[in-house]
Amino acid sequence: GAPTIRAIDDIGAGEQVTVMWRGQPIFIARRTPAMVESLKAMDALVVDPASDNADQTPAFAKNEYRSIKPEILVLVGVCTHLGCAPEYLPEVKPMPFDAEWKGGYFCPCHKSKYDIAGRVYKAQPAPLALPVPPYHFQDDNTLVIG
Ligand code: FES
Repeated sequence: GAPTIRAIDDIGAGEQVTVMWRGQPIFIARRTPAMVESLKAMDALVVDPASDNADQTPAFAKNEYRSIKPEILVLVGVCTHLGCAPEYLPEVKPMPFDAEWKGGYFCPCHKSKYDIAGRVYKAQPAPLALPVPPYHFQDDNTLVIG
């Protein structure tokens, strides 16, 4: 059945949990206000900044946060290059890989970089953003995937 994640409030600011859905890892991160605030400045650096690609971003998440609630990010945790698992590396400073990258997700297989909304940086091996899966909030503190 569809995974139901209760007590979303228990995910600390800046922390991420992973659940499985249809054999795929789903990342659920609680972004800090600073992380949410940082997204606007990333627009010039990422592919598809407005999330126009409906295969990667369903209509309900087509906004600057790529999410229903600005702070709660929900992504399929599978790199869009060859399917490795990206690492969650928010606000890592200084960036060991690329001074331009401000943190988010980093795929160790071929070094693709994504921002903290899962949008892929330009000129990476990965061509597309990390997909937003179907999900909704059953109540304010309960998230249902699928
Ligand atoms: Fe992620 Fe190649 S599988 S960069």
